[in-house]
Amino acid sequence: MAAKNKITEVTDLPGIGAQGAEKLFSAGYKTLESIATASPMELKEAAGLGDGTAEKAIKAARDALEMGFETADILAERRKLVGKLTTGSTELDTLIGGGLETQSITEVYGKFASGKTQWCFQTSVTVQLPKDQGGLEGACLYIDSENSFRPERVIQIAKRFKLDEEQTLKNILVARAYNSDHQMLLIDKAAEMVKEKNIKLVIVDSLTSQFRSEFFGRGMLADRQQRLNRHMRQLQKLAENQNVVVLVTNQVLERPDILFGDPTAPVGGNVVGHASKTRLYLRKSKEDKRVAKLVDSPSLPDGEAVYRVTENGIEDV
Ligand SMILES: Nc1ncnc2c1ncn2[C@@H]1O[C@H](COP(=O)(O)OP(=O)(O)OP(=O)(O)O)[C@@H](O)[C@H]1O
Ligand SMILES: [Mg+2]
Repeated sequence: MAAKNKITEVTDLPGIGAQGAEKLFSAGYKTLESIATASPMELKEAAGLGDGTAEKAIKAARDALEMGFETADILAERRKLVGKLTTGSTELDTLIGGGLETQSITEVYGKFASGKTQWCFQTSVTVQLPKDQGGLEGACLYIDSENSFRPERVIQIAKRFKLDEEQTLKNILVARAYNSDHQMLLIDKAAEMVKEKNIKLVIVDSLTSQFRSEFFGRGMLADRQQRLNRHMRQLQKLAENQNVVVLVTNQVLERPDILFGDPTAPVGGNVVGHASKTRLYLRKSKEDKRVAKLVDSPSLPDGEAVYRVTENGIEDV
C-alpha cells in the first residue's frame, strides 16, 4: 500500500472522497495549496466538512506540500520575484519603495473624492506598460462594487502613455460586485483567470462598501469582521500565490471619540489593517493637488508625497 501516502490532488486527501471533493471544488478549493492555506473553519463553512475531517485534510495537504518552516534564503529568492508597478508619479513611487508590489495587498483609503478610484484607473493602465516604463506587461482584473468604473477615464490616461485605446480597454476585465458574497466569489474565480489572461493587477474598488451595507449596527459587527477577514485572506493568497499586485480602496469613518489629530479611521479596523502590507491615506489639497501618507509599512519609513490628479491621471507636481 505504498501509493496510499502519495497525495497529489484534492481527491487523495484522507476522509474527503468523491463527494467531499466535489463540494470543495464548487467552493473554489481546487488545489492542495488552497486547502493547505485554508483554516478548518473555512472548509467547514464552505464545503460542509465534518468535525475533524477539515483539520485532517489541511494537515495532509500541508505535509504533502512540505509546508512549515522555510529558510530565509528561500524567502529572499521569492522576494526577488516581487514586481513593482508605477503609479505614474515618481514622488509617489519613491514613497512606496519603487511602486506597488506584487505578492501583497496595497490599500488606499480616504474620504469621498480623495482620489481612490483615480488610483484604480491609473494602475489599470500602467500595469500594461513595458517593464522599462514601470509596468508589468500584464492585464488587469477590476472588481467594481460602487459602479464607478468609467472607460472614458481609462482612455484619457491611456493617451498620456501613448497606448492604443482599444487594446488598453481590452486588457481590463471588469466585474460588478453586487454583494459581499458575489465579491468573494469573484476573487475565487480570479485565481483561475490569472494565468489564462496574464493578469498582473487585481483591483477591488471598494473593498468594504458591500460589507458595510449588509452588516450594519453593533450586533452584526462580529459577523462582518469574520467575513471581511476571510476576504482579506483570499486576497492575500491571491497576491502571494499568483505574484500579482492587489490594490484595494477603503472608506473612512468619522470617529467622534478622537479629540486631537485626524478624527477619521479606515473601515474594517485591524482585520483590514493587518492584511494590507502598504496602506496609504489619501487627502485633497489645494487645486488638483493630493497628498498620500504612508501608514505602517513593514520596511519603509512613514512619510508623505504630494502629487496631482489631472486629465492625464496621476502626475508629479
Ligand atoms: N478627468 C479628470 N480630470 C481631472 N481630474 C479628475 C478627472 N476625473 C476625476 N478627477 C478628480 O478626481 C476626483 C474624484 O476622485 P475619485 O473618484 O477617485 O474619488 P474617490 O476617493 O474614489 O471617492 P469615493 O469615495 O466617492 O469613491 C474628482 O473630484 C476630480 O478632482
Ligand atoms: Mg471611488
